[in-house]
Formats: sequence, C-alpha cells, structure tokens
Amino acid sequence: MNTETMTQGNTDKIELNYGGREFSFPVVVGSEGEAGVDIAKLRSSTGLITLDPGYANSGSCRSAITFIDGDKGILRYRGYPIEELAMKSSFLEVAWLLMYGELPTKDQLATFTHEITRHTLLHEDFRRFFEAMPKAAHPMPVCASAVAALTTFYQDAAEAKDSRTSIVRLIAKMPTIASYAYKHSIGQPFMYPRNDRAYEANFLRMMFGTPCEEYEPDPVIAKALDLLLILHADHEQNCSTSTVRLVGSSKANLYASISAGISALWGHLHGGANQQVIEMLEQIETEGGSADHFIARAKDKNDTARLMGFGHRVYKSYDPRASILKKTCSDVLARTGVSSKLLEIGMRLEEIALHDEYFVQRRLYPNVDFYSGIIYKALGIPVNMFTVMFAMGRLPGWIAHWLELNADPDFKIGRPRQIYTGSPKRAYVPIASR
Ligand code: CMC
Repeated sequence: MNTETMTQGNTDKIELNYGGREFSFPVVVGSEGEAGVDIAKLRSSTGLITLDPGYANSGSCRSAITFIDGDKGILRYRGYPIEELAMKSSFLEVAWLLMYGELPTKDQLATFTHEITRHTLLHEDFRRFFEAMPKAAHPMPVCASAVAALTTFYQDAAEAKDSRTSIVRLIAKMPTIASYAYKHSIGQPFMYPRNDRAYEANFLRMMFGTPCEEYEPDPVIAKALDLLLILHADHEQNCSTSTVRLVGSSKANLYASISAGISALWGHLHGGANQQVIEMLEQIETEGGSADHFIARAKDKNDTARLMGFGHRVYKSYDPRASILKKTCSDVLARTGVSSKLLEIGMRLEEIALHDEYFVQRRLYPNVDFYSGIIYKALGIPVNMFTVMFAMGRLPGWIAHWLELNADPDFKIGRPRQIYTGSPKRAYVPIASR
C-alpha cells in the first residue's frame, strides 16, 4: 500500500472555526499510519499561517526513504529494519538502497562499487586547497568547503543534469577529502587512494598510512567502521537533511546542497554531539570519574552542562542505533585493547540516567552519539574527526533526499513564513535628531 493510495482513500478532515467561518482541511495518512493535517490551503482560505518553532509539529514533505517510530524505537531504511541492515548489509549497498529505493542486484552493486572505486582521486590542483587551510582548522568546515569547491572542478554538475556522476564522485571522494583534511592538520603527506582496497579499508589507509611503509587495516576495524556508516546513513528530516532539502529547493546543485548539510551537521546539538560526548567522558575521567556529579550538573537549570549523547527530538525511547553500538563497543574495545575506562564511565552515566526521575520524566535515552564516539576513539579516529565520520555516513541519506526532492511532483522552493514582531510603521528620523 503506497502513501498516495492511503492519502486518497482517507476522508477524515480537520474542522477549523475562525472569524465566524468554518473551514476544513484534509487529513493525510502515511504508509505506516502516521497522520497529518494538510494545511497547503490554510493561508489562501483563512489568511492564517501556522507557528511552530523548531518544526516539532510540522511535516515538510512526503518521503518514502526512512521510517522512524520514536516511541517504539523503530528505524527502517526503505522498509528494512536497521538491525537487519546492520547485521547483513554493507555501507555501499545501503547507500544504493537509500538513493534508488531497492537493494541492488549483484550486478548493480558490482558496477556501483567499481564506479566508486574509480572516482576516489581528487584533482591534483585540489591539494593546494587543503594546504591553504590553517593546520589547526576543524576538519568539518574544511570538508564543507572542499565539497562546495568540487563544483568548481566539475562545472557540468552546476546544471544538475547528470546527478549520477555527481553522486558517484561525492561518495567516492568524501573519504579522500576527509583524510586530506586530517593529514594536512598533522603535517603528513597526503595518501593517494588505491583501487585494490574496499571503501572503508581505503579510507583507513589514507588516514593512518604513510608513504614510508605499507598499512594493512585490521578487517575487524574496517567492519566496525562499515557498521557505523550504515547506522548514520539516514534519519529522515533532521536538521542537516532539512538543510540539504532547503538549499536544494532553490535548485542549487548537489555539491552546494551537501556542503550546506555538512555545516548544519557540525553543530553540537546535532552531529557535533559525538565529539562532545568524548570530551564530557574525558572531563569526568580527569575530575576523578564521578558520573553522579556530572548528572547533577546536567539536571541543574543554572548550569549549561547537558548530558551529551542523551535525548532526541524524535526518539522518546532507546535509540535503536545506540543499542546496536553499545554491543559493538565492547567487541571493538576487546579487539583493539584500548582502555575501557571511558566505556565504563559512559555505562555508569547511562545506568544512573535511566533510573533518574529527571531523565525518565523527560524520556531522555542514549542516542547514536553516546556510544559512537567511544568506538571512533578505539578505532584511532581523532576526536575532531568524529563528526566528519558522521558526515561520511550521512552522505547517501542527504543524496537520497536531494534526489527525492528534485523528483517530487509537488516541488516548490522552501520558503517559510513568519509572525512579524518588530516595530509598526514609523517615520525616518534624520541623524541630527537622534
Ligand atoms: N541533558 C539534560 N537535559 C536534557 C537533555 C540532556 N542531554 N536533553 C534534553 N534535556 C531536557 C531539556 O533541558 C528540557 O528540559 P525542560 O523541559 O525542563 O526545559 C527537556 O529535556 C526537553 O529538551 P529539549 O531541548 O526541549 O528537546 P529537543 O527535542 O528540542 O532537543 C536534543 C533534542 C537532541 C537537542 C537534546 O536532547 C539535546 O540537547 N541533547 C544533547 C545533545 C545530543 O546528544 N545531540 C545529538 C542528537 S542525536 C544525533 C543527531 O541526530 O544529530
């Protein structure tokens, strides 16, 4: 049963009484039974707009990509449960699924993988772009700028006619861009990608290899990275995806739209939280390891501290991605031999928070960022690169939404309204009289 069928078959309406007149608006129902009121004709018929700061009650589009039930802790890409994809799939397969709607056939996956492998190189002139950045720069703005700058090398994409080539270039070059941003920051030579390595292994080699000796990534580490990328791959209309859609709605090209998404992801209330989780855990460790003290600070309204990696706009129960990562955490730590002190502090924080009235009442549970940072750290990924890893994973989701937006028969430039609260009309005051 598709969304359209259910919407058309539904006869429920919302009645609105305003200014002595009656208006009715249709109720639309999605394929999982989520209902919303269609207010497309609200302003033209009543003169009213809606006011919904943070868009907590507003649907911005119809989408067939990802389904989340935040109360039940359900996440599905194109109908497939995240738990199953995490166990059985691979990042490139999931990328195809999100972008094109179905799991790829063997041939489709082989061709896609081949194309990705052969588009990983950056134009040689691009090296100077990274060299121009300060070594201390955070890699997120470096990556956002580099992705925007891809348009200058591939100007055909500016017309958005050949999205397939732009898609392949973006997914292929993102790990190269991310590793160049890192290599520049530590003063090591850039490592060229190699076509005989799989996606994650290639990235790990470009990050941690040097021209002085061969670098063989541990397959367990590469697998853990693949899992993290799958879990980050899409999350419906979050802040960065909505940004990609809004920028794309002006008919900005794919690179420009994704670059904006990377910038939106950087904020610490969104993807930047994974970096802040580790900084929080390290701070607790430095201060003697008292989880209780930090919990008390997070609850104190006069203290700006929040329990990073906890709470979610949509999930009001355990984030299913956090459950998967919690299990993976112990495996990765055991394999890498990295101290589990931070994991212990994290688990202690979680245990306290899950039984604390403040967190229980507000339905605050661990989100994907709570355990991902611990795994990234164990994999040897530097802390300021955590959000870049999130961006690499989210790339196919952003692309899928950009494609869906551009194929939407109801396509419109995004342009919200406002309730103006400034001064009413007044006369200009000459400077001598002010
Ligand atoms: N620690 C302490 N209190 C919290 C937390 C937290 N992590 N999160 C929410 N609250 C409190 C908040 O103070 C408020 O309390 P009150 O009702 O007394 O004013 C209540 O819970 C509701 O919070 P909110 O900020 O209104 O909820 P929101 O839906 O606007 O925000 C959030 C969601 C994710 C921004 C927020 O929970 C948060 O700041 N969490 C920490 C940052 C974080 O982990 N972000 C990653 C999100 S998951 C990855 C992603 O998708 O980007």
